Amino acid sequence: MTVLAGFDIGGTKCSVSIATVSGEQPKILNKIKYPTPPSPDEALERAIASLHQLIKEEKVDRIEAIGISCGGPLDSKRGLILSPPNLPAWDGIDVIRPFREFGVPVGLQNDANACALAEWTWGAGRGCDNMIFLTFGTGMGAGLILNGQLYAGENDMAGEVGHIRLEEDGPVGYGKAGSFEGFCSGGGIARLARQMAEERIRAGNPPSFCRHLDELPHVTAETVGRSARNGDPLALEIYRIVGEKLGKGLAVLVDILNPERIVIGSIYGRQQELLKPIVMDVLQKEALPHNLSVCQIVPAGLGESVGDLASLSVAMQMCKQIHR
Ligand code: BGC
Ligand code: NA
Repeated sequence: MTVLAGFDIGGTKCSVSIATVSGEQPKILNKIKYPTPPSPDEALERAIASLHQLIKEEKVDRIEAIGISCGGPLDSKRGLILSPPNLPAWDGIDVIRPFREFGVPVGLQNDANACALAEWTWGAGRGCDNMIFLTFGTGMGAGLILNGQLYAGENDMAGEVGHIRLEEDGPVGYGKAGSFEGFCSGGGIARLARQMAEERIRAGNPPSFCRHLDELPHVTAETVGRSARNGDPLALEIYRIVGEKLGKGLAVLVDILNPERIVIGSIYGRQQELLKPIVMDVLQKEALPHNLSVCQIVPAGLGESVGDLASLSVAMQMCKQIHR
């Protein structure tokens, strides 16, 4: 039985997992999660310790490969993280070297690319030759499966769609105001909501998700989403804006890449009812009908374990065992 290990480095949490593979979706035996520490050294030390612990607890004789997924920019060949917008302390950090002590192949891949591989192999992208995965979580990044394989670009930078500017002004994401990540990410939605809520509170017309100025720091994409589903007009307005920008971003991808399916993770899955009608409306106006007619927009299929399956799919690639 082949056992693989995965390490998913996220903007808010890290997860180390081990899984068995036998052709179908890996079966996760066990995993250890922890909030991403401010220091990369600490994050890596905990990852190594966690992997030792998992191997011991699950009585695994040997793991075949280790896969690491992390937000970019990064250099997969040299195993370096290069100052991602959501992990600024990780500039130049070698994430592969600490894992050498396990004596097995270790691979690194952009998180969106790794999620695309996982969704394509086991999730909502199964059976497609041309599919795009969008993270839409802490950050906004894309993984591109083109002509039946992952397209990572010249230096792992393909699919950095979060940096695309959609409006002259707007919430800052990926260092740019009005960018795709500025509007369509957890942090971006929270920033937009705080700004709009503050205006309303000062005008004596507070939204239900934030009644007082001192509550502003607690506003998140989740709390606004909940209020929107309960009919709060400002929360609905915020999700209308976010849906419009998502539609605009999708229209660009649809027209450039002519994909068969676009799979969207995290926030889209949770707020699909709010977002889908707006997104489809914008797409109908913005994208070429011949492109749109062949493209499905669907939520991610792997749910909460997508991050682990993403890093495990990188391990699997290292073993060259990906069967379709
Ligand atoms: C990063 C991408 C990453 C995405 C999701 C963006 O800020 O630049 O590389 O895929 O966040 O984590
Ligand atoms: Na990418």
